[in-house]
Amino acid sequence: MTRSTMSPLAIEGGPKAFDRPFPSRHLIGEAEKRAAMAVFDRAIETGEPIGYNGEEEEEYCSRFADFMGGGYCDAVNSGSSAVYVALRALEIPAFSEVVVSPITDAGGIMPVALTNCIPVVADTNLHSYNTGPEQIEARITERTRAIIVAHITGIPVDMDPIMEIARSHDIRVLEDCSQAHGSRYKGRLVGTIGDVTAFSTMDGKHHCTGPQGGVVFTKDPEMAMRCRRLSDRGKPFGIKGIETNDIGISQNVPVSNVVASLNLNSNNLAAAIGLEQLGKLPRIIEDRRRIARAIAEGIEDRCPSIRFVGDPAECESAYWFLVFDLDTARVRVSKQQFAEAIAAEGLPVAASYVPPQSHWRWFRTRTVFGEQGLPWTAPQFAGDPDRPMPLPNFETMDERLFRMDYHENLADADVDDIISVFEKVGRAYGGEA
Ligand SMILES: Cc1ncc(COP(=O)(O)O)c(C=O)c1O
Repeated sequence: MTRSTMSPLAIEGGPKAFDRPFPSRHLIGEAEKRAAMAVFDRAIETGEPIGYNGEEEEEYCSRFADFMGGGYCDAVNSGSSAVYVALRALEIPAFSEVVVSPITDAGGIMPVALTNCIPVVADTNLHSYNTGPEQIEARITERTRAIIVAHITGIPVDMDPIMEIARSHDIRVLEDCSQAHGSRYKGRLVGTIGDVTAFSTMDGKHHCTGPQGGVVFTKDPEMAMRCRRLSDRGKPFGIKGIETNDIGISQNVPVSNVVASLNLNSNNLAAAIGLEQLGKLPRIIEDRRRIARAIAEGIEDRCPSIRFVGDPAECESAYWFLVFDLDTARVRVSKQQFAEAIAAEGLPVAASYVPPQSHWRWFRTRTVFGEQGLPWTAPQFAGDPDRPMPLPNFETMDERLFRMDYHENLADADVDDIISVFEKVGRAYGGEA
């Protein structure tokens, strides 16, 4: 037992057990800088603009598809855009219901309402922030046409039964892998199981394409072409007789855009950074898993009132942040107080991740297209716009789960000190031997 684990809690005025700034991640290095500069150098030399859909972007998409084990990628400008494009590429009718994960980023759900569909929030399971097959099935009606499954913090959702449920109801599945680059479910990469997949590659994710970015992935070539059209204002990619070559738009023949959409393209500069990052991704995943394992084992030994929320059976999670489950019966404070005490010791811990999307103001007030409550209030929507969406599992787990940001560049000494913080707080609040 070290002195730091015996001293008074920092939240009560004692010294911090993690007594230095939490280490920065250093995701961006010289390689990314050189790659970006090379794009500038070429633009300066040739006098041509940096552009999009060029060499770097094609290469990034092809390398990302290789990483996924084959298929098609379209790089876009954010994860939210990737979800929007992927959802539209599913071509479900407007005013369908789309079952969504409860605990996720707003960008993973808002596209549902923006495509004139009705988001229906499923409950979580009783282990993590993820939803599960039973919780999804409980929300399915004859109006359900799609499910968006988010693998929150890289922990794979139980996909096989979800795919079975979806297939039996003729429902499409969109995997949101924004937080799960390289996680595996029963040997398969998440993102290769559903019909289409969205990734965020914004600056904090496992790998990034600069400050913002996203990727749509699919194994279906037709879907891939729809994604390209939908991320580029409906340009006629892949439509014979309208396009003039198989990579894009002729420079000299006017084309007719075929579907209304937005310009959600990525670009060659972002892709050049992304290419360097893709090279680092396998190591990032491995190091994140190694560090998560070390923290989990240390906590299991020295802070038994806490369980690390780790890999489900036959899964390998590429963790984005770490989730802990506090056995509240073994400590004399709430999860909130416990998490605050850990944060006060110097760790990037928060008592929760995000509230369920159905609790957010935009969702409660149905503020999507002005004030009229559309799409919920549209006459074409045949369902109950006020259908209750109880989240009892989430409420149970919300008493217990808390999270900590971490990254792949933590040193062994950082890991030891993180474990000491948990031990100190666990001991002070009475749960430990
Ligand atoms: C699960 C999930 N979906 C969608 C998004 C939206 O991605 P972006 O911030 O790149 O728009 C995020 C971002 O954190 C996310 O975590």
